[in-house]
Amino acid sequence: MRERHGIRVVMHRATDAPYIDLRVDDGQEINFGQLSLKVIYTPGHTQDAMCLLFRDRIFTGDTLLIGGCGRTDLPGGNAEKQYDSLSKLKALGDQIRVYPGHDYREAVSTLGDEKQNNPRLQIASKEEFIHFMTSRKPPLPRKIQEALEWNRTPIQGTQRGMGEGI
Ligand SMILES: [Fe+2]
Repeated sequence: MRERHGIRVVMHRATDAPYIDLRVDDGQEINFGQLSLKVIYTPGHTQDAMCLLFRDRIFTGDTLLIGGCGRTDLPGGNAEKQYDSLSKLKALGDQIRVYPGHDYREAVSTLGDEKQNNPRLQIASKEEFIHFMTSRKPPLPRKIQEALEWNRTPIQGTQRGMGEGI
């Protein structure tokens, strides 16, 4: 897609992926046409996780899921940072619509609904959150090592082939 359509790959500066066209920082605006997305750096699921705020909508990746949040036990994950990142999102307006990276439940929610109903946002303290996140051991995603390796491999011409997502 990048080569065929001239798409630019945008990631947070903290990424270790080598094929990025634009590395962005917290608070930066990503402009496209007349529109722009605001970067909110939200490490925790990964060290380079970010959310993108667009007017009254936010794309939350795997930081905030509907009724949950991204796991923090995979490489680059950090429960304490995830707590701080979720707190950052909680400080935004209730009416903002949430579009997560996975639709395990409904495809869209609002920050207000999540603050009221998402069990991960009800945990009273950072310590309890860290305890909760670090005491769970869900199975590893299939082929995670291959996928991580793949993500860190430079693109050589068009020889990158078909990767499997996680
Ligand atoms: Fe993920």
